[in-house]
Amino acid sequence: MKKVITYGTFDLFHEGHYKLLKRAKELGDYLIVGVTTETYDRSRGKLNVVDDLMTRIENVRKTGFADEIIIEETIGQKVSDVLKYKIDIFTVGSDWTGVFDYMEEYCEVVYLERTKNVSSTMLRNEAFHIQRIGIIGNGRIAGRFISDAKSVSGVNVQGVYNPHSDSAKKFAKEHDLNFYKSLDKMYEDTDIIYIAAPHETHYSYIKDALEHDKHVISEKPLVFKEQQAKELFDLAKERGKILIEGIKTAYCPGFTKLIDVACSGLIGAVRYVEACFTKLEDPDTRELTDLKYGGSFTELGSYCLLPIIKLFGTEYENATFESIRNEDGLDIFTKCNLTFKRGMATATCGLGVKSEGRLLIAGTRGYIVVDAPWWKTTYFEVHYEDPNLVEKYSERFLGEGLRYEIADALNQINGNGKSEFKLTRKESIAMASVMEKFLEHENREKVVQVSFKNISRDAGEVISGLGI
Ligand code: CTP
Repeated sequence: MKKVITYGTFDLFHEGHYKLLKRAKELGDYLIVGVTTETYDRSRGKLNVVDDLMTRIENVRKTGFADEIIIEETIGQKVSDVLKYKIDIFTVGSDWTGVFDYMEEYCEVVYLERTKNVSSTMLRNEAFHIQRIGIIGNGRIAGRFISDAKSVSGVNVQGVYNPHSDSAKKFAKEHDLNFYKSLDKMYEDTDIIYIAAPHETHYSYIKDALEHDKHVISEKPLVFKEQQAKELFDLAKERGKILIEGIKTAYCPGFTKLIDVACSGLIGAVRYVEACFTKLEDPDTRELTDLKYGGSFTELGSYCLLPIIKLFGTEYENATFESIRNEDGLDIFTKCNLTFKRGMATATCGLGVKSEGRLLIAGTRGYIVVDAPWWKTTYFEVHYEDPNLVEKYSERFLGEGLRYEIADALNQINGNGKSEFKLTRKESIAMASVMEKFLEHENREKVVQVSFKNISRDAGEVISGLGI
């Protein structure tokens, strides 16, 4: 009996898939089809798969060509499958010509001609129109966002707006984008607004964009007041638009896995979380000179609060802060202590004091440790009382990591809300409430009431954008 194997995602099952499976079956007597899991697809950068695994398997099954369907979960699995199932022929479409020549060591490799003019990517683009993104602000993060957006099919960055037109013009030219002098013009050309302007402008920009019926991805911290966060999420709901706080960590596969492991019972009940992020900044930067909204906690606090809120929930009992300050009184190092019914946590941030920057999750049976940069989680270890017992986990983190949040935003816009749990509205609101408490403690609250008028929409004010 001649055994044949082939693999694919088989998203939005189409004629090309059907013909490929038919011809694959004709190559032998028994056909095994490997269908990729969502986790595997995400880890290899295929982020916009629409159909879930069961639907994709069912569609392959319905063709009647597959004698057996298996799941493809990991990179490198193909070789072991060929050996395990005693495969004679490995086959895929001609778009992969050459890529699998290395399999010739184990079996015959056949590249079947690909059916022209159809692909899952084409169908996804037809089913869901390309979401056009407009960016407010043109700091470093905006540049990273643009480069990562290129790897997400279904979105296109249209242009950039910044009331400080010279820097935005230059930025637009560098990235081959439109430069918008007015927000209204940008709204006309876009579906999603990505806000990468300084923290204090987020509230007004988010509100304005939602009122113009745009979806919004905003850099963190979303806003500085709990009530403002609630109001904006309510507005988004009322308008049928999505609002996402862009803490990239929340959406990356390694961090999702970390939270899964921490919640799995492996380390018992989680009782203590210590999250530290420090990044030495030049004393002249906005982060260390903006006495109203700068400083280490407003800059980095969102990252550290994320694992804490994810693991203990949004109902903290108490939040206290201690800071080390520069000559101007701005916090260059802040330690935030949070208590919960189930445990306690510290979020430590520094722009002027360097620390090791790790994430530690302590439970009743063991602990998880993730070294810096844990906010781009790729590797973590689980330790127990017995120091010789260490479990190691790893995951990929592609590009700048912003592609995951962009893809999740897109999936939500296209009606697939499955990723909403990664950073919920309640969690963002809880983080805004901690920020609010911090600013109250700092006695900066009188200055956080920036109205939209103060951030002139068409000229004047310098919007430098964010660095992280
Ligand atoms: N295939 C084909 N003809 C097409 C499209 C796909 O023969 N027009 C083949 C691929 O070469 C592969 C299998 O079908 O062997 C599964 O491909 P998959 O990647 O799931 O489909 P695509 O349509 O190529 O998906 P995407 O656009 O997401 O890359």
